[in-house]
Formats: sequence, C-alpha cells, structure tokens
Amino acid sequence: MSDGPEEGMLSWDESVFRDEHVFEIDYVPETFAHRETQLQSLQYALRPAVRGSRPLNTMVRGPPGTGKTTAVQKLFGELSAETDVQTVRVNCQVDSTRYAVFSRVFQGLFEYEPPSSGISFKKLFSQITDRLVEEDEVLVVALDDVNYLFYENEASDTLYSLLRAHEAHSGAKIGVIIVSSDLNLDVIEELDSRVQSVFRPEEVYFPKYDTDEIVDILRGRSERGFHEGVVGAPELDRVAELTAESGDLRVGIDLLRRAGLNAEMRASKTISVEDVDEAYDKSKYVHLSRSLRGLSDSERALVEVIAEHDGEQAGVVYEAFHDETGLGYTRYSEIINKLDQLGVIEAAYADVDGRGRSRSLTLAYDPDAVLDRLN
Ligand SMILES: Nc1ncnc2c1ncn2[C@@H]1O[C@H](COP(=O)(O)OP(=O)(O)OP(=O)(O)O)[C@@H](O)[C@H]1O
Ligand SMILES: [Mg+2]
Repeated sequence: MSDGPEEGMLSWDESVFRDEHVFEIDYVPETFAHRETQLQSLQYALRPAVRGSRPLNTMVRGPPGTGKTTAVQKLFGELSAETDVQTVRVNCQVDSTRYAVFSRVFQGLFEYEPPSSGISFKKLFSQITDRLVEEDEVLVVALDDVNYLFYENEASDTLYSLLRAHEAHSGAKIGVIIVSSDLNLDVIEELDSRVQSVFRPEEVYFPKYDTDEIVDILRGRSERGFHEGVVGAPELDRVAELTAESGDLRVGIDLLRRAGLNAEMRASKTISVEDVDEAYDKSKYVHLSRSLRGLSDSERALVEVIAEHDGEQAGVVYEAFHDETGLGYTRYSEIINKLDQLGVIEAAYADVDGRGRSRSLTLAYDPDAVLDRLN
C-alpha cells in the first residue's frame, strides 16, 4: 500500500466539513432568525419571573421542526446567564410520567439526582417547593413535547401539581411552558376540568417556515458547517425545496449532512444536486426515526408486528402481538392509540363484509423503512 490516499478518495485531512457538529440534532444555533414575534411573546410571559413574581403560563404549539425547542433553549440560556430565575426543560418523550417530570425538575434545581431508592412523590414535590421558598427563587418549567404526557395519561396530574404548587406551599413560584407539536391534540380540551380552571395559558404559535426562510436558515448553517464553496445556490435551493415538503427543518439539516457525506464518498469537494437527491431517501425519514427512538420495548414490538401485518385487521394484529409479548388487550389498545396519535400508524375503521366495523391498521410509512429503523 502506498502512503498517499487511495485513488478516488479524499485524504484523511481533506473534508467538505468545517464543523460537522453543526448538523447534529441537539446543536443550538448561534443565530435564530424568523422567530422574533414568538420570542417576544415568550419574553413577555417570562418577564414577571425576572422581577421575582410568578410568570404567565404559556402554551407553545406548531408542527415539528419549527424552532419551538430552540426558542425555549435560547431563552432559558439567557435567563440562566443574566438572572436568578431557575429554568428546567423536561423532554417528555423521555420523562413521560408526573414522577419522572418532577425527578427531572429536582435534578435541574439541586444538580444531583433524587435518591434512587425511591422517595414518594409528595416528598419529591415538597423538597422542590421548600427549596424555592427558602431561596426565594422563581422556577420556570418547560414541558417539551408535552403531547407524550397526554399519550400516557399523565398530563393533568403533572400540570395540576405544577400549577397548584403555590397553594400547597405558599411562596413557591412556578411558571409553566408547555410545548406540543401534535396539532391534532386539543391540549386544553383534553385536560381534566380541575386543571382547565387554573390553566389559561398565553398562546404562541410557530408556523412552518416558508421556502425563502428555509433557504436563509440553511445557508447560515452551511456557512458554519461546510468549507467555502462546498454547497452552491442551486443545491441549497434543492435542499430547501425538499425540506419545504414537510416543513420540518430537521429534514434540511440532515440533508445537508448526508449530502456532504455523499460528496466525500465520491471524492468531491463540492455537493451536487444528485448528492442531495440521494440523501433525501434517508433524510425524509428523520421524523419517523425520532418517533421510533422514544418508544418502549413493547411499543416497538407492536410496530414490528404491524409492519409484518400491514393493512390487516386489529384483531389479527392483536393475536400476533399477544403471542410475541404476552401482553393483554388493554395495553394493546393503549399502544395502538399512541402510535396513531404519533402518526406512525393509521387506524381506520372499515366495514368487514357481514361482520360489522373493525379497525384496520396500516403503517404511515414504507414497512421496510420502519423495520430498518427499529433495529
Ligand atoms: N430559526 C432558526 N434558525 C436556525 N436554526 C433553526 C431555526 N429554527 C429551527 N432551527 C433548527 O431546526 C432544528 C429543529 O428545531 P427545533 O428542535 O427547535 O424544532 P421543534 O419545533 O422543537 O420541533 P419538534 O416539535 O419536532 O420538537 C434544530 O436543529 C434547530 O437548530
Ligand atoms: Mg422540539
């Protein structure tokens, strides 16, 4: 073997990437354009906290990949750096019960985990509120992807505890931001009436970005992530066009990264439109990957069973699921509802000849794409 790079490959120190990290999913961008009005509304709601009062509660809604999480991260970062306000963002896809949410809040405040031996919810709760009162701190909790709390039937209890904290422990000041990307979920309507009566949030809506905004945002990302001249205007337009189909900016960011890798694969220092189109076969599934990543083992098992029985009746699918996992019908129905709400499957009622109506279960995606991403 020669010392030099093999023919048809870029040498190890050559790359289209200046900083590949900027295309990763949890990267918080330096510039956050086209969200001025949303940021202003959130700032307005949070302002009382800076003065030591309970902030206004806020409900943030908008389709996936429209900057909701980023907006919260930006504002929380500023509050932590410039004020004494305590902020905790909870990812409800991961922490989807009231207890898990409060454990996360505890961890955010005390900077260590609550005892793993398990303490009662009541104890966990009073440690948090005692601390807030003693230190005279205002706490803002963002329940990000709060829709997952609804799928697990934990939303009302969680919100109720957060919203009534100041009554249970006078002087505890907690404000809540809930963030939902499930536009079919009527958040307020789905809450218990005892919660509805204390929860009248300000509403902030994050619409899909239009194609020009997408180009603008992705150009900024490319300038940071790629060396100069790697991605040209026609290629960027193509990325934006494909991104605008779903409106999820994550598709565009993933496209840029994969297109960059494709260019490197053919030993090119510039991205072509073909690199972009080829990348789209994978990038179009970023939303699916994200939905699947948050599922438990039994939920994944059911997705797999449905993929193998795509389009069949709910009863048939249940038999297969039960054989596989030993779980009963109640749990089965709960998971079906969750997968339906997540948009992973479509559960449609259909007339079965002579036997009345039954649900047929279909994957919302190509079964092979789903199976690929489960394993
Ligand atoms: N205005 C913007 N400028 C730069 N980057 C942005 C902007 N809006 C969103 N992004 C980027 O797009 C990606 C998705 O944004 P974000 O995670 O904030 O969306 P989201 O609305 O929370 O989506 P979901 O509802 O699916 O959680 C992130 O990588 C983020 O950095
Ligand atoms: Mg988000």
